[in-house]
Formats: sequence, structure tokens, C-alpha cells
Amino acid sequence: MPFDIRAIRRDFPILQTTVRGKPLVYLDNAATSQTPQCVIDALTHYYAQSNANIHRGLHYLAEQATLAYEETRKRVATFIGARSSREVIFTRNATEALNLVAQSYGRATLQPGDEILLTEMEHHSNLIPWQLIAKERGAVLRFIPVVATGALDLSRIDTLIGPRTKIVAFTMLSNVMGTITPVRELIQRAHAVGAVAVIDAAQGAAHRPLSVAEFDCDFLAFSAHKMCGPTGVGILYGKAEHLEQMPPFLGGGEMIHTVELTHSTWAEIPHKFEAGTPNIADVIAFRVALDYLATIGMDKIWAHEEQLTRYAAQRLAAMKKVTIYGPGLEDLRDAVIAFNVKGIHPHDVSQALDFEGVAIRAGHHCCQPLMRRLGVAATNRASIAFYNTFEEIDLFISALERTQQFFGVAS
Ligand SMILES: Cc1ncc(COP(=O)(O)O)c(C=O)c1O
Repeated sequence: MPFDIRAIRRDFPILQTTVRGKPLVYLDNAATSQTPQCVIDALTHYYAQSNANIHRGLHYLAEQATLAYEETRKRVATFIGARSSREVIFTRNATEALNLVAQSYGRATLQPGDEILLTEMEHHSNLIPWQLIAKERGAVLRFIPVVATGALDLSRIDTLIGPRTKIVAFTMLSNVMGTITPVRELIQRAHAVGAVAVIDAAQGAAHRPLSVAEFDCDFLAFSAHKMCGPTGVGILYGKAEHLEQMPPFLGGGEMIHTVELTHSTWAEIPHKFEAGTPNIADVIAFRVALDYLATIGMDKIWAHEEQLTRYAAQRLAAMKKVTIYGPGLEDLRDAVIAFNVKGIHPHDVSQALDFEGVAIRAGHHCCQPLMRRLGVAATNRASIAFYNTFEEIDLFISALERTQQFFGVAS
């Protein structure tokens, strides 16, 4: 199917709306993506036609809902190249998926003095869970540094990774700088010392084709709401050999095999990790989002976003008094650009752009340690999705120029 940006944009009702009388220019996709009509329809259809609790009822609606829910699991497995849908666990979001690994795998395996290797660019969701479990188990956190170009400094990797390293957890794509990390190399380094590799694909899965089988990662986490799906659905991929050994994360209904008053046995994977009534409607609608993305093609999505990101970075770099953080114009960068405008606080930039209908994000982007490394308290962040256009980048840049004029910081 050819990449028809106009047709794609028509699929998203919100992209036809105006904000304060101006056409919406949505460049906050790293926070959450917009939702196509087919996904909205799937949600409505579920509540109108097949709403029932799953796995336990024997009536028609329960069977339909269960089938549709499990269909999404199979679809996710295909989308990420997993060997089996048993390796796909539904959580509330990527954050919960990463906490699951830390609390279950981490608690069961870490010994005092063991090391967990992270990077300085991690989102708090891939940092705090490791801080919590490291403190509890007496493990040590180590960090791959970030250099000025936003890349990971792998020159010291031999001193950071060794026989004590048990877990290597890192993002596939920085949610601040758009840096693409060397996923395969880091996974190989982890495996070479017998550690497991945990990939935070909250950003990566939304922008690039990926295959967990090809990566050979042990765990991979992402969120549906950054991939045109509904909020409230996260995915944890885990190799079956790990998941089978791991204790449950949460206890309750549906995750058990037998229950006695004082002890219980657990259901098979993946159900062992899905206690209680899950987010049925949103999981079911997520299948439609994945079909939608697959029909467009993740390779085409990536190609379009790469061009747009490059264009946006070039236009920003051409402005005076604008600093871009992370990769240079010649380096690879995906979908995310952090920048500051000299003399204007990021919150003011973001608010001024909002008056022009342009939605970006300002703040620390849940990456306070990275902000310290970059020497700033906050940045602006423009983040791109496949439904954005070159015209929208131009509108964003001209709104930014007017912002500079308004604050007397003319470019
Ligand atoms: C790199 C990265 N990891 C993890 C998360 C957490 O995702 P969620 O809030 O959906 O759990 C985000 C969210 O922005 C992110 O960008």
C-alpha cells in the first residue's frame, strides 16, 4: 500500500479539529499518540455488542470477549516476532511491565552485590523499579554514560559489565533526544556475561519494525497508547523459559491453578501474571491498532518519520538562539527532538505554541538524571508520528519564530 498521508490523516478524527481556532498541530506523540477511527469503533463495538468478563464465563458473550482478547495476544506476538503468544503478558502500561520484571525476576534472582546495568538516559519507568529492587536485594546500580551527541558511551563498557552483572536494562529509543541505542550489541554484551537483557521499547515499538526473536532479548516492554491504541494497556514480552520460573507479580483471581486457605499454585503463563479483570475493551481494540499500523507498514512509518524528523531538526538548527540536544544533524535520530530557546523558559515556549494550536511537551520528560547530564532543568520536546506532515513542521517553526518575537528574543 502506498504511503498516502492525506488518507492516513482522514483516519484520525482529532487531526481534523482546531485548538483555539487554529488547526491542531500535534507534536506530543512521544507522550501519547492519537487514535484512528477504527480503534475508536472497536471500543464502541465491544461495549455495544460483546461486553463480558473473560476466561470465566461459559455464555456466548464471555466466549466472544475471551476469543477477541486472546486474539490480540496472538496479534501482538506476530507484531513483535515472538515465538509464542504465551510469551505476551498484558499489563496496564510499559511502566507496570518493567516493574513486573524487577519485582518478579529481580526479587527471585538478585543477590547482594549483584549488579544491574542501566543507562543515564532512562525514563524514570526504567530506573525507579530497579532502584527499588536494588535497595531491597542489596544489588548495585551501574550506568552507561551519555555523551554530548546523545549517544551511549560504550568506550567504558568493559569496566561496567562483568560477572556480577545480572540484568542489563535500557531504552531502545530515548524519549528526550531521539537517540537510537545499539540494541543488538548491548544484548550480546549482556548475554556474554550471563545477564538478561530488558528492553524498554515504549518509544521504539511505536516507530520501528522490531523482532524480539531477532533481538534475542529476554524481556521487552511497551505501551499501546503510544502506538495508536487505547490507554491502559501495556505489554511485557518475556522468554517463556524465564516467565515459567518467575513467581507471580500480583495475586488474585485468574492467576491461580488451585487455592487452599494457606497456599496456592499458579496458572500457566501468561495467565500467572494477569491477576484480576484486565482491561478487556482496550486490549481488544489494540488488535485493531496493530492491524492498522501493519497495513500502513512499520517500515514506511519509519521512513516517513525519519524524513520529517530530519527536516524538523534542520529547521530548528537554522534558527538563532535555539539549542538542540542529542544527535547532530548528520546522526541518526528518531521522531523526538529536545530543544531550548535562549531566554524563554520551556513552559513559556510550550504555552505560547499552544495559543497557536501547536502541542509540544515541556519539562524533564521523566528523565531527571538525563536533564542533569545535559545541564538543564527542562527542555521543550517536539515528537513526531507518521501522520504528521512537512506543513505541520513549518507551522510549528513559524509559531516558534513568533514566540521569539513576542518574548523579545528575535532570531
Ligand atoms: C522511554 C519510555 N519508557 C517508559 C515510558 C512509560 O510509558 P507508560 O507511561 O506508558 O508506562 C515512557 C513514556 O513516555 C517512555 O517514553
